[in-house]
Amino acid sequence: MGKTKFDFSGQTAVLTGAASGIARAASAAFAEAGATVYLIDIDEEKGEAAAGEIRAGGGQAHFVHCDVTESKSVNGAFQRVLADSGRIDVLVNSAGGWTKKQATWETPEEEWDRIVELNLKSVFLCCKAATPAFLRQKSGRIINLGSVAGLTAAKGASSPPYIAAKAAVHSLTRLLAGELGGEGVAVNAIAPGTTATERVTIARTDEEIAQIGASTVAGRIAEVDDMVGWILFLAAPESGYLMGQTIAVNGGRLMV
Ligand SMILES: NC(=O)c1ccc[n+]([C@@H]2O[C@H](COP(=O)([O-])OP(=O)(O)OC[C@H]3O[C@@H](n4cnc5c(N)ncnc54)[C@H](OP(=O)(O)O)[C@@H]3O)[C@@H](O)[C@H]2O)c1
Repeated sequence: MGKTKFDFSGQTAVLTGAASGIARAASAAFAEAGATVYLIDIDEEKGEAAAGEIRAGGGQAHFVHCDVTESKSVNGAFQRVLADSGRIDVLVNSAGGWTKKQATWETPEEEWDRIVELNLKSVFLCCKAATPAFLRQKSGRIINLGSVAGLTAAKGASSPPYIAAKAAVHSLTRLLAGELGGEGVAVNAIAPGTTATERVTIARTDEEIAQIGASTVAGRIAEVDDMVGWILFLAAPESGYLMGQTIAVNGGRLMV
């Protein structure tokens, strides 16, 4: 992380998709800033390893196995978090992604459903499970991971259900902000541009990464830490007046 100091002492942060990528790094940063962190993911091995790494560095972290597309699994995970910590201060909905770039009319129905469930239904289910705690506390932060793909629909940019689901995540962010803002809960999103997570660096060739980088004003794709700072800032007291916004963190690839 950078040099900015955040203080989340005494707070509980729950992050989905936290076994890898942006949420894994954000989990470590929240723990470093004093939060007790619950890492939710479907990948038990990587999730336990991520939580173990944080604990080894002196932070407080627990892995909770969960499929964020299944209500029973989500409800069980949040019950466990609440039984353990008694509160949730920050929810980061980061589980998501896509696999196939193809035309809308070539997309199989099952692929559509799978990607929409992973990127959109997951946010609905996790927000629904966490909201009773936020309402009890009269405080909380929700930070959703949208995407530059949900802000624009350039031909062949990524998968159609992913583009549609991420646009809906931005919309759901505004809706939730309107519902919960008066209850002391701020809901915002970030829309990352292409970010050098392990999945991206494996899936893309060096040439593709250079090409995407060249399409930004910054001249490079994002590093994971370019996203982590925004996530922590959206959970910090200084951003408490920001409601229902999607911050487009894409190096100027798309200016909105
Ligand atoms: N990286 C980028 O370039 C980029 C750009 C724009 C937006 N985003 C968005 O930012 C978020 C984080 O991206 P990332 O690149 O950090 O992701 P990532 O490294 O692929 O990590 C996603 C994590 O979510 C887990 N997961 C998948 N399905 C799940 C399920 N049903 N229940 C619980 N966990 C599940 C994955 O496990 P498995 O590994 O087992 O699948 C993985 O550990 C995503 O929403 C993504 O769409 C990323």
